[in-house]
Amino acid sequence: RAVANESTASGSSGESTSELISILDELREIFTDAIKSAYPEIPNPPILVAQSSSKFCDYQCNSAMKIAQLLKEKNIKVNPNEVGRKIVANLPAIPNAYISKVEVAGPGFINIFLGKSYAINAMKMILENGIQPPKVPRQRIVVDLSAPNIAKEMHVGHLRSTIIGDSIARLLEFLGHDVLRINHVGDWGTQFGMLIAHLKDIFPNYLNESPPISDLQAFYKESKLRFDSDEAFKKRSYACVVDLQGGDPNSLKAWNMICDVSRKEFQKIYDRLDVKLIERGESFYQDRMKVVVKELEDKGLLEDDEGRKIMWGEPAEGIPLTIVKSDGGFTYDTSDMAALKQRIQEEKADWLVYVVDSGQATHFQTVFSCAKRAKIVNPDKHRVDHVGFGVVLGEDGKKFKTRSGDTVKLSSLLDEGLKRSLDKLVEKGRDQVLTPAELKSAQESIAYGCIRYSDLSYNRINAYTFSFDKMLEDKGNTAVYLLYAYTRIKSIARNCGGDFANNIQKVVAETTIQLEHEKEFKLAKTLIKFPDVIKLIAKDLFLHHLCEFVYEISTAFTEFYDACYCIEKNKEGEIVKINAERVLLCEATSLMLAKCFDILGLKPVHKI
Ligand code: ARG
Repeated sequence: RAVANESTASGSSGESTSELISILDELREIFTDAIKSAYPEIPNPPILVAQSSSKFCDYQCNSAMKIAQLLKEKNIKVNPNEVGRKIVANLPAIPNAYISKVEVAGPGFINIFLGKSYAINAMKMILENGIQPPKVPRQRIVVDLSAPNIAKEMHVGHLRSTIIGDSIARLLEFLGHDVLRINHVGDWGTQFGMLIAHLKDIFPNYLNESPPISDLQAFYKESKLRFDSDEAFKKRSYACVVDLQGGDPNSLKAWNMICDVSRKEFQKIYDRLDVKLIERGESFYQDRMKVVVKELEDKGLLEDDEGRKIMWGEPAEGIPLTIVKSDGGFTYDTSDMAALKQRIQEEKADWLVYVVDSGQATHFQTVFSCAKRAKIVNPDKHRVDHVGFGVVLGEDGKKFKTRSGDTVKLSSLLDEGLKRSLDKLVEKGRDQVLTPAELKSAQESIAYGCIRYSDLSYNRINAYTFSFDKMLEDKGNTAVYLLYAYTRIKSIARNCGGDFANNIQKVVAETTIQLEHEKEFKLAKTLIKFPDVIKLIAKDLFLHHLCEFVYEISTAFTEFYDACYCIEKNKEGEIVKINAERVLLCEATSLMLAKCFDILGLKPVHKI
């Protein structure tokens, strides 16, 4: 396999590409070839290539130690440093498009230094074509996100699911996949019996006139109170569930009215956060549940357990799914089996992603395992992921609650975000500089941006401490810091005026990129990690990698900007000299940041 020479940096196919390539894939291929020709006797040699954590080189190949070990098992004694040198001797000619230099250090680490030629080419690609996704085969993907429950408060757990799920969907869409965002709302539980019974009692005219329920929470509490204390009411509630699930038109009408109240509340939150999804709640699967139950029954997968019908995952341990209750009713488990089947068979999904709190990990593992047993999921064809996340804590380290111990209403939380963000802007005197419209968009961008970003920037598996103070800090890896940094970087080309402001493509065509200064090169080397970051997230679905990347860019940019003048001004503040290459690097940085922000759901503003 020919490695591109220094003048034609290109993807591994050999032809030149217009999108950024994965450096890690490229290096892995180069090292696989070298290792295979150095050690043909080792069938599947370990290929360990990674970004370097040290300052001394860019990437590292750490295969030599492992190979020395494998040889030792075959009674061949070699020193890992020697193995390292043998691998290096089998590399294609260096320098080439990707590698400028390699060194074997200590016990066989191979230090890799990137070459400039690909980095230069990559900067041109970014400037000419914008940020293009790495090429991957297109898949149909269902992302299950948000999923609050009707008549109950949408809480911070649902907010996390909404934020994480939306960004995962955005990333997969950027990769060119066909993504269906499904809101699996809880709209079909037994709680509807008591809600409908209560509605019929207090608004007997509900069939002709829309009942004025504005506070569904209170309505829920009232009906629950009656349900728990009044036997006759309880009986009527059960009857209402049977009517509803049997398709009685009046019950359906009442049910719809109740759902509508919640639906409108949820929608307000989605609109504020600019999240788009399709509502397809548990009720959607009513008929499909009957079908899937029959299928499982026919396949002999259900077991009787004191009148319940249960299904075990594989291995049969832990908690089985309850597919049919002893009263014949269906459960959350049944609806998930039906939904999974619908997504695979009707939606023709290749990949299912469920963004639901880690508390439901066992539920999903069992659902996935049962779906495999039932041959609904074929592990060779379908990928299924439960994207779990930790609970939300308050600053006191306890479960996130209001002072009075109630669950925090999401609309009030967003309102408080807006208020705090405005305070921050006023504190900085921005209200003196910005027009009211600019101030408002800065306020919203900061408020919603910081709520999203701080959630995404930590490893989602861990519990997450919600703190407005922390997320609104203007130093460190926060949305506020990044939004300011972006606006500043974005304005550099604009401030140069002329073609820089009005026809940057002309400047791109006329400027040679050389990356001579060490910090210019470092910035470029950071930007070209993008495809690797995106591919990693598509694999493990952890978005904090992207936040770390964005922060790394802003740090590399600051180092570059401190060390390299882009624009020289005289005492009067007039521009006397412009370094075109550097202004273009600022532009490439801002394009990259904008793309990452887009995936993270941050909305940069013109002025802040
Ligand atoms: N409504 C559920 C809850 O609030 C979440 C549903 C998640 N999605 C699913 N397919 N089970 O806990």
